Amino acid sequence: MVRDHVGQDPQDEVAARFYSRIDRSRAVQQTGEGLWLVLGHPEAVRLLRDRTVSSMTRKPGLGIWDQVSSRFFMFKDAQQHLRLRRMVSDCFTPARLAELKTVVHRATRDHLDRLDEATGAGGRQADIMARVAYPVASDAICRLLGVSQVESAFLGQWAVSLSRHTTDEQFDRSAEEVLGFFREQLSGHREAPRDSGLLPIMAERALALGIDDDELLATCVLLVVAGFETSANFFGNMLLSLLWRRERFERLLADDTLVAPAIEELLRLHSPAHVVMRRTTEATTVGDTVIPADAQVAVLLGLCNRDPRVFDDPDAYRLDRASNPHLSFSQGPHYCVGASLARVELEAMLRAVLDRLPLLSLHTEQPLRWSGRFLGRGLDQLQVLAS
Ligand code: HEM
Repeated sequence: MVRDHVGQDPQDEVAARFYSRIDRSRAVQQTGEGLWLVLGHPEAVRLLRDRTVSSMTRKPGLGIWDQVSSRFFMFKDAQQHLRLRRMVSDCFTPARLAELKTVVHRATRDHLDRLDEATGAGGRQADIMARVAYPVASDAICRLLGVSQVESAFLGQWAVSLSRHTTDEQFDRSAEEVLGFFREQLSGHREAPRDSGLLPIMAERALALGIDDDELLATCVLLVVAGFETSANFFGNMLLSLLWRRERFERLLADDTLVAPAIEELLRLHSPAHVVMRRTTEATTVGDTVIPADAQVAVLLGLCNRDPRVFDDPDAYRLDRASNPHLSFSQGPHYCVGASLARVELEAMLRAVLDRLPLLSLHTEQPLRWSGRFLGRGLDQLQVLAS
């Protein structure tokens, strides 16, 4: 018997609580602490596309993790950004995406089929984050990079534990572990090149583009950090919304042409990445406001995605919303390099769930716990009943 849920979708509650603290009548505003906020859609697009606005927002530090993350192209500008981004962006070819779609669909199906090994008593109750979202998202990144399945378990666990670290020492130990891992992988590829995956291609391009080993290693780490948790978290957020109001899930079961637009709508409302940071390098006019030079700016993507000037009835779930220019993958030069992969991956995962477990429902006897993770908002666990 599939149970429905009463009350507001818990994610709407979280969002409403957060947004109630912000004056939504002003698209650009400054907080008492001096931080600038951009929460209007056209204003965010204008700022994010402005090449004088910098992504170098991290304070330099001496730890190993600080050094690795300071090499992430996510936090670089202009040429420094482009040369590293190019090393990976051209690799997302239609052929590679098609291959990944098949891999992810198969992996999701296999993990879903094994759900009944989960708990024993109580039938097929399981935490779908641990049993499906994390392993599939990690399989996808590993397949993309060309890391073997056995090694994928290491990377998956590494990325999950990274998100739970709280001290500098833990981050540094993790950084050492993963750098050692990629150093070994890259030397393996150099000695005996395998024909699939990004690692050998990136290593070859790095030579041609004058990218040194430290930058290459940091880019490998960035792909795992940026690509693993975001997808896994969003998978959980998406399922929670679809299953909380059962009719949403049923609509997708009845009409699978809605799968792609429904993912866009849920990305608009419940993306794990709600904010990106920028720094102005000169006075910048956004709408009718001038943000001074050297200001820290938080672009609140989640609120831009609910701008009534762009989205009709912005708080409503319209799974068939025709035009959906949400900013959940950002905009401008730092537009998510993995957006096409994320879409392919999420669609394959959701389709596998609909095919395999049409009777899936939530088991929410314990309260839902959200974590403020490294790259965004996600559920620590999501208990489901598989039949
Ligand atoms: C639901 C899934 C995802 C969401 C919501 C998401 C969101 C984002 C956002 C908002 C940014 C922009 C940051 C900024 O403007 O400063 C970004 C950048 C980035 N994302 Fe994603 N992402 C997702 C999946 C992925 C995947 C699967 C990969 C990797 C394969 C990936 C790799 C990256 C990288 C490398 C960047 C940096 C791009 C740059 O600075 O040029 N992301 N992502």
